[in-house]
Amino acid sequence: MAVNLKGRSFLTLMDFTPEEIRYMLDLAHDLKAKKRAGIKNEVLKGKNVVLLFEKTSTRTRCAFEVACMDEGAGVTFLDSGSSQMGKKESLEDTAKVLGRFYDGIEYRGYKQEVVEDLAKHAGVPVWNGLTDVDHPTQILADMMTIEEHVAKPLNRVKVVFSGDIRNNMSYAWMYGCAKMGMHYVAYGPEELKKELNQDVIAKVQEVAKETGATIEISSDPASLKGADVLYADVWASMGEEAEIPERVKLLTPYRIDMDMIKATENPDVVFLHCLPSFHDFETTMAKTQKEAGYDIREVTDEVFRSKHSKVFDEAENRMHTIKAVIVATIG
Ligand code: CP
Ligand code: NVA
Repeated sequence: MAVNLKGRSFLTLMDFTPEEIRYMLDLAHDLKAKKRAGIKNEVLKGKNVVLLFEKTSTRTRCAFEVACMDEGAGVTFLDSGSSQMGKKESLEDTAKVLGRFYDGIEYRGYKQEVVEDLAKHAGVPVWNGLTDVDHPTQILADMMTIEEHVAKPLNRVKVVFSGDIRNNMSYAWMYGCAKMGMHYVAYGPEELKKELNQDVIAKVQEVAKETGATIEISSDPASLKGADVLYADVWASMGEEAEIPERVKLLTPYRIDMDMIKATENPDVVFLHCLPSFHDFETTMAKTQKEAGYDIREVTDEVFRSKHSKVFDEAENRMHTIKAVIVATIG
């Protein structure tokens, strides 16, 4: 049956079949080729989209804005500092109001339940732009980048995520890999393994059984062998800055450096990172933490700037994949 995602919200990849995810990826590749060729279809002409951000963003916000502008949609940005949302008006009421004005709503914030509630009440598609436990638009961009740089179908690709294995990106990867039959290793310390949500692990293992995926949690360096992709994210996610001292202690052995690249035994291993990244001391945060005695780099500058690194292709693909999600659901 032909895939039709019109009217659907995009809250987590767990809500989509492998065929539906394939459809969004194909659409993203197609939209990227069209943009490169200067072809504009304005498939969102007459539509309006609102972007709600309770956390900061560069890529996700700009990807949504450019995607809308490219396809002829109007776009409004709201953050918690400049709207009534959450403070003087409940999310339920906010969703009901915005659903009357807009054809689609993007939300970035804390709890997954909030984005689910918005979808329940808005009456229009809601797209998850990151929560504490998921980042599904990022995974679409990552899969698209893998398809451009790894000469294998997704179901033969091994992704090793090194670092804070209990963060939103790690869970988002579990969902994505389980659905697409990929091979995922969450490579991190035993202490963090204990913090993983066992219900989620059971759910992804169930899906993995159907698709042929493998989902592994490991602190054994041997699990790096054969990786096609080494993936990093910050050690303390937005809102977790107080945890930095503890995380640096736990995660320093999981910083991605050239030795870790070598340990994959794959000369063509690709390095990916959702960004923003601490790979040097050029940011205020990295500098301040260094002065306090904490080296928060999750990857060395050498790896970040090496031939293995495809992070800027990956960042660009945020826009093409987000455009695909918007076009597929409200276009
Ligand atoms: N990768 C990502 O979501 O980046 P932003 O936080 O800049 O949106
Ligand atoms: N884990 C990071 C991802 C940023 C895109 C965070 O939530 O801050």
